[in-house]
Amino acid sequence: MRVALGADHGGFRLKEEIKSLLEEMNIACEDFGCDCETSVDYPDYALPVAEKVAAGEFDRGILICGTGIGMSIAANKVPGIRCALVHDMFSAKATREHNDTNVLTMGERVIGPGLAREIVKIWLETEFQGGRHQRRIDKVTDIEAKHLGVK
Ligand code: RB5
Repeated sequence: MRVALGADHGGFRLKEEIKSLLEEMNIACEDFGCDCETSVDYPDYALPVAEKVAAGEFDRGILICGTGIGMSIAANKVPGIRCALVHDMFSAKATREHNDTNVLTMGERVIGPGLAREIVKIWLETEFQGGRHQRRIDKVTDIEAKHLGVK
C-alpha cells in the first residue's frame, strides 16, 4: 500500500501527525505538502494527490484542511476519485465497505489527533464489500463519464 498525503495550512499539523502514524504502521507514504502553516490554497494540494491516486501511482490519498470540506470538493473533481470527508469511526468503516473510497479527507479544526489516527487506521484496513455496492459505484462512474462527455 502506498499513500499520498497532502494538506493546506489549516491541516498542516494533523498531516504531520498522520505521517507519523503511517510510519508507525510501516505504510509507504509521500508528502505532497504543504510544508508549514503559511496560508496557501487547498486545491493546489488536493490536485496532485488526487491525480496520483487516479493514475494508480498511489493506492490511497489522505487530504487535510481546516474543515476537510474544501479538500473533499476539490479531490472529487478528479475523474476516478471517490473521496469521503470523515470525522467518525463508523463512517470510516462504512465508506470503505460501501463506497470503496480512495481518498479520505479530515478537518484539523474539527477533530483531534487521537480520533483522526483511529479513523485513518480503520479506513486503511477496511476492505470494500463489492456486490450491490459495486453496482452503485458503477452508476456513480456513469455520471462522471456522462459529464466528461465520454458517454
Ligand atoms: C482555510 O482557512 C480553510 O478555508 C481551509 O483549510 C478549508 O477548511 C477549506 O475548506
